[in-house]
Amino acid sequence: MRHFLTLKDFSKAELLEMISLAQKIKKQTKERHFVPYLEHQTLAMIFEKSSTRTRVSFETGIYQLGGIGLFLSGNDIQLGRGEPMKDTARVVSRMVDMVMIRTYEQHKLEEFAMHSQVPVINGLTDMYHPVQLMTDYLTMIEFGKGDNPVVGYIGDGNNIAHSWLMLAAKLGFELHIATPIGYECDEEVINTAKNIAKQSATKLSFGHEPEEALKGCDVVTTDTWISMGQEEEKKKRLKDFSGYMIDESLMSHAKKDAIFLHCLPAYRGLEVSEETLEKNADTIFTEAENRLHMQKGIMVWLDQHRNK
Ligand code: CP
Ligand code: NVA
Repeated sequence: MRHFLTLKDFSKAELLEMISLAQKIKKQTKERHFVPYLEHQTLAMIFEKSSTRTRVSFETGIYQLGGIGLFLSGNDIQLGRGEPMKDTARVVSRMVDMVMIRTYEQHKLEEFAMHSQVPVINGLTDMYHPVQLMTDYLTMIEFGKGDNPVVGYIGDGNNIAHSWLMLAAKLGFELHIATPIGYECDEEVINTAKNIAKQSATKLSFGHEPEEALKGCDVVTTDTWISMGQEEEKKKRLKDFSGYMIDESLMSHAKKDAIFLHCLPAYRGLEVSEETLEKNADTIFTEAENRLHMQKGIMVWLDQHRNK
């Protein structure tokens, strides 16, 4: 049985298999052909943080695959009153077929997975957001940027940046990251990504100059400067991130036909200008829709690998 906790746990071939499955299922869905790959299965969705896309896409996705989703807010289940993660895992996983968790520390997700009888999917932790990055790659392929792209990530060295690092290292594409000083990616994640990238001679670069990072980029991306759980740091962060907003002037440093991706929710006038966001609405909202299709691919893949 496999869990989907970080991209580093999968080979390039496995990640591409999931993408192919998602493409096939997306095509079927567009034709209103709903194949019950996960008939009668239940997906428990545990949320300890807010969500729009992750909740709607997983709940709709499991339904379209012939199963049902259970929304479990961390505050409403006994987990919120102190029941240990490992007990929650041992109870919930005896009743459902798959679990998605959005939580804070990566080790809480890992603890759940260790005690779970069914596959567990990371729906975002402070460290990683792997389902988002699989979706971003699916979207890049659809917009003609799947082959040897150069990607520029400008902003916080957070869960999204970490997952970009893992995706680039695993799939073997060039990634430039520019963060303000003091907001670099986690050192351990950087080292792990560098080690993986070495095998495929993939270039990963880190710096503090957005203009420099965007040179030659086919894909430009960013994320909020204030992630869930960092609300108290807002004032300081807004000051420290000044100069990192992606606007048309910054975009002009990337290739002429570069696309812009944003995992959303976006904060206009902070990490991205209103103009850049609206100019790229087609890619950004296709990216949002693709959460539905990509996660169906991941769920079906995990189901197929249950007894392997
Ligand atoms: N991008 C993303 O995960 O969005 P939600 O927080 O709305 O789920
Ligand atoms: N970095 C953001 C991503 C939201 C989808 C957060 O963790 O809040």
